[in-house]
Amino acid sequence: MKKKIIAVALTAIVALGSLVGCGSSSNGSTGDALIVGTNAAFPPFEYVGDDGKPDGFDIALIKAIGEKAGMEVQIQDMEFDSLVSSIGNKIDVAIAGMTVTEERKKTVDFSDSYYEAVQDVIVPKGSAIATADDLKGLKIGVQLGTTGEFIADEIEGAEISAYNKAVDAVNDLNNGRVDCVIVDKNPAEVFGAQFPDQVDVIPGTNFDFEPENYAIALPKGNTELAEKINTALKELKEDGTYDALVKKYIEE
Ligand code: ARG
Repeated sequence: MKKKIIAVALTAIVALGSLVGCGSSSNGSTGDALIVGTNAAFPPFEYVGDDGKPDGFDIALIKAIGEKAGMEVQIQDMEFDSLVSSIGNKIDVAIAGMTVTEERKKTVDFSDSYYEAVQDVIVPKGSAIATADDLKGLKIGVQLGTTGEFIADEIEGAEISAYNKAVDAVNDLNNGRVDCVIVDKNPAEVFGAQFPDQVDVIPGTNFDFEPENYAIALPKGNTELAEKINTALKELKEDGTYDALVKKYIEE
């Protein structure tokens, strides 16, 4: 009797083990579906398309990578601030206009970079904000957990409001609740075009903000997956697919 219970328990453990083993998360390198986390509120890199599904440059790029590498890509939309800590459990990798930072590298690895960016500053139309000194003591809107927030944190006397979505920071700029918004250049330009009568977009270089590199965040130590993704990325750059996607989504 006792033996049987142990046997049943063992079978259950083995069954559970194999379930976990072929589950789609945390083992993207086995040929299973690759679960890709994003935050689809960051145009033109990711946004919710007219059909209700995530679309944008990053989404098209990771799908093309999946196709090259023989991995079925499944997109999971979530808060930007949860992406890094979800890698290896809820998701396999993340593509989200994510900047490579030393802090993030403590938790995740990064693919080769696929885009260079910088933080811009969105200001009310006609504002006198023009240089780094002008940002001191201002109310600054940012997206939670982004490099825009990290930069704002360093500004003397700044009062920071962090939002789950960058567009909510822009809405509060238009409401007068914040004095400016620090956000990545391309989304800043999209928001600028969305509210042409209300805001101006000032290039981050005017404030001496450093260039940033976007890359795909990967589970730490999974060199096999990293190599698959980097090889696919390289091929897409060589065969013109990458340039076509830049044209379609970013320069259109
Ligand atoms: N590049 C910035 C960062 O890595 C912002 C990225 C925000 N991306 C997004 N999909 N909301 O912190």
